[in-house]
Amino acid sequence: MGFEHWFNRTLNRVWGFIEERAGIPNWALRPQPAFTFKPSYWTGAFVANAFFIQVVTGLLLLLYYEPSVGPTLTACGQAVGALSQSPAAWCSTYYLINSVPMGGLLLSSHLYGAYAMLFLAFVHFYRGYYLGAYKKPREFSWMAGTVLLLLTLGMGFTGYVLPYTQISLNATNVGIVLALRLPTLGALTAPFLLGDGTPQGLLSRMFALHVLVIPLALGALLYAHIALFESHGIAPPATSDPTQRSRYVRSEEKEQVPFWPHIFFYMTKWALLYLGLLFGIAALWPWQLPTYVGNLTAIQSVTEPDWYFLWLFKLVDFYGVTPVIAVGATTLLMVYVLLLPFLDRSPRRHPRDRPFVVIIGNTLLGFFILLTVWGGLTPGVLIYPLGVAERLGPILLVNLIVVPAFYLRYRRSYQRRLIDRGSGYRLPGAYPILGAPPRATAAPATRTSEATSVD
Ligand code: HEM
Repeated sequence: MGFEHWFNRTLNRVWGFIEERAGIPNWALRPQPAFTFKPSYWTGAFVANAFFIQVVTGLLLLLYYEPSVGPTLTACGQAVGALSQSPAAWCSTYYLINSVPMGGLLLSSHLYGAYAMLFLAFVHFYRGYYLGAYKKPREFSWMAGTVLLLLTLGMGFTGYVLPYTQISLNATNVGIVLALRLPTLGALTAPFLLGDGTPQGLLSRMFALHVLVIPLALGALLYAHIALFESHGIAPPATSDPTQRSRYVRSEEKEQVPFWPHIFFYMTKWALLYLGLLFGIAALWPWQLPTYVGNLTAIQSVTEPDWYFLWLFKLVDFYGVTPVIAVGATTLLMVYVLLLPFLDRSPRRHPRDRPFVVIIGNTLLGFFILLTVWGGLTPGVLIYPLGVAERLGPILLVNLIVVPAFYLRYRRSYQRRLIDRGSGYRLPGAYPILGAPPRATAAPATRTSEATSVD
């Protein structure tokens, strides 16, 4: 018996003992079909991983950060010398970057990690949007996800002002003015956002929201989101088959890949890659701290939010668009996203079979990217209606031509397939069928009754 054989056997026995006594297989999440070993099936897990890393880096930042607009009470004041009259929130950030070993790396990783989390949350959202992951039975997963997206944006908003730079305070004030324009909700949330109305009141509220209130809400909702995912299982691939199943049943789990250790290690690989990239980027391009609130050279500084709010800032630059209109449009957009599972109720999940939803999604994505770039290039510059039509019009036009063309191109082959299958399934809604499909005699033999249902 070679050493290798002995080593492997011993390792298996030791691990088998730990696994059994600790009941590890029972902690694990649901087994998944083998085809889900692709990153596109785990976009949500990437967001969850980014959130977890934000919590860790954020807790480390808390060891140094002082949430105060007054003079600093710690060694930071002496360390920064002539800048010691700066507010403690800014001063402690400056101290962290310049005097704490790896402090700059930590802060940059937290900041870029926030960007990554937001970006990944958008990717996760758009994947679900295009592939119809919000359809029955995943309506609540979608609605919880929408609130998670809002909370993630809230984390970005409340964190932006914490270093207390002039740019971030200006942008936060604009954001708060916009938020307060929300009918009813604005007046209700004002005391929570502003505190006693002083600069310290604002900073304290933002701090409390950023480090406690929103993360707790996010964590609790994420738990519900993942519990819903566990109970429905992963959404099968979106196909053009109207009788396609919408979930895998528990009895199929024996043929699927167990979460522990296979999926767990698959995720770990991606998590480590993410961490390496994050630290690498933070080390190569560290964040530069802009000047502090009240510094005379900074009074004229531009008002610019982080990139994920630039689109909203640019919207207010449009001729005739008042803050009330901008906030109203954003609220309508959020209501559309939240209620989407109830607006698009057909069982069709493939994007080419859902032209209306795809046109709206593409147009919103195009507008969003355009406004973000525009907002970054020319913040605060008034835009006249012709300028708006020139840039946003083509996006709408291309969509109105390309998406229906795809829909019409595939409609015939789709109908033919339907008739060939002889499923007897009648498409709901306005989808026209060429010729009546023959009546079905029996359901396809290989499927269980739960799996066959179009739910
Ligand atoms: C903080 C933000 C979010 C986190 C951490 C998160 C996390 C997750 C996780 C871990 C899953 C399991 C499958 C996967 O990894 O993709 C999942 C699934 C899902 N999420 Fe999210 N999510 C977030 C935001 C959203 C948003 C914004 C939406 C849409 C509005 C959404 C809708 C869904 C849906 C419909 C599923 C089921 C997908 C399927 O079965 O394939 N989530 N989410």
